Amino acid sequence: MAAQHPRQSSPPARLAVLVSGSGTNLQALLDAVEARGAEAYGARVVAVGSDREGVEGLRRAERAGIPTFVRRLRDYPDRAAWDRALAEATAAHAPDLVVSAGFMKVVGAEFLARFGGRFVNTHPALLPSFPGAHGVRDALAYGAKVTGCTVHFVDDGVDTGPVIAQSAVDVLEGDDESALHERIKDAERRLLVDVVGRLARDGYSIEGRKVRLGHERARHQ
Ligand code: GAR
Repeated sequence: MAAQHPRQSSPPARLAVLVSGSGTNLQALLDAVEARGAEAYGARVVAVGSDREGVEGLRRAERAGIPTFVRRLRDYPDRAAWDRALAEATAAHAPDLVVSAGFMKVVGAEFLARFGGRFVNTHPALLPSFPGAHGVRDALAYGAKVTGCTVHFVDDGVDTGPVIAQSAVDVLEGDDESALHERIKDAERRLLVDVVGRLARDGYSIEGRKVRLGHERARHQ
């Protein structure tokens, strides 16, 4: 049975974006909304959340006048309590889609119960190769000649959910982690902006591991 997520009608889809660091993927989304307009792009960022205070991703949101929230794991008695707090803070902004853009924590059952099927992550490797927190370093250490980035729905594993789209990036002679990651992030920002816009504008369906974008169009062909 496919989970259907119909195309958004106006107003544009509400995006909550989660970040832990520099937030250049968040910035790419903000720039796309600014350049194209929320109606044409199909979505707008309504909130940015983080597990860390003072990161550049939060400052980017503040500069754009977007509400932010921080829920630090260490402020809660256990992971389940943190997960509940993160889910509640996110839900307060009534997002249609939640985007993990460099958010370096694994969410738990409560978060997935609320946002499963509409929680998107971007990962700097071609999954299922090199999951986890060091996707770029691990690809380099393995000697891979091609790596890249994956945008996927989040399930209860680490980087195991259904793949939405991928983009390949060559590993070059002499690459270090930082140089390779920068080239991956160039591809990743373009991919994320494209995928989020299409999810929001065209709708999608998830059937097992298969994600179909624009399912309304597909069903009527
Ligand atoms: C991105 O490359 C993203 O894929 C990665 O962190 C970077 C964040 O960059 N995420 C992970 O490694 C998650 N496992 P940004 O803060 O500049 O958007």
